Amino acid sequence: MASLRILYSAAVIAQTVARLGQELNRDYGAVTEPVVLLVVLKGALVFAADLIRQLHFPCEIACIQASSYRQGTSPDALQVSEMADLTGRTVIVLEDIVDTGLTLQRILSGLSARSVQVCTLLDKPHRRRVAVPIHYRGLVLIEDEFIVGYGLDYAERYRELPDIAVLVPSSLPNEEERSA
Ligand code: IMP
Repeated sequence: MASLRILYSAAVIAQTVARLGQELNRDYGAVTEPVVLLVVLKGALVFAADLIRQLHFPCEIACIQASSYRQGTSPDALQVSEMADLTGRTVIVLEDIVDTGLTLQRILSGLSARSVQVCTLLDKPHRRRVAVPIHYRGLVLIEDEFIVGYGLDYAERYRELPDIAVLVPSSLPNEEERSA
């Protein structure tokens, strides 16, 4: 049985989501055409559900499924589902966490929108392997910790937790066991 240590409480997450919502409202408040919120499944599902209720401008939801790590494959075996045609649209990519940046890089390279900005709840800058733009950033992890909860999983577990918690070192997955 894995042991968990709470890193960010539900209250801290709620404050962070509210702050991101304010930043987006400030920058997108004057739009007239609906903005597309491109939710990167499955991890960003919970974040997106809370964030969208903070927004005061017209928006639509689109989803993309990305799997950056799968059991038995290397971290580079990134799989991204087919994307809706967002040509000419204003898009905000909603990520749960940016780690190596490879998932985001792949998603951005496949987008031909009029404008694309990135909003991530969590950032692990020390793990970055490719440079990616982040316009709206929630919480920054300083330590190299594997976290779960609030939509983030370990082998599909723990997504339902209201807090974000660290899996203690004895239960840390290796690179090949991380799943998106
Ligand atoms: P990247 O392509 O390495 O930036 O990976 C991004 C994806 O990896 C995220 O959307 C998550 O699904 C997953 N991921 C990275 N770090 C963690 C973590 O600490 N906990 C859970 N999932 C993670």
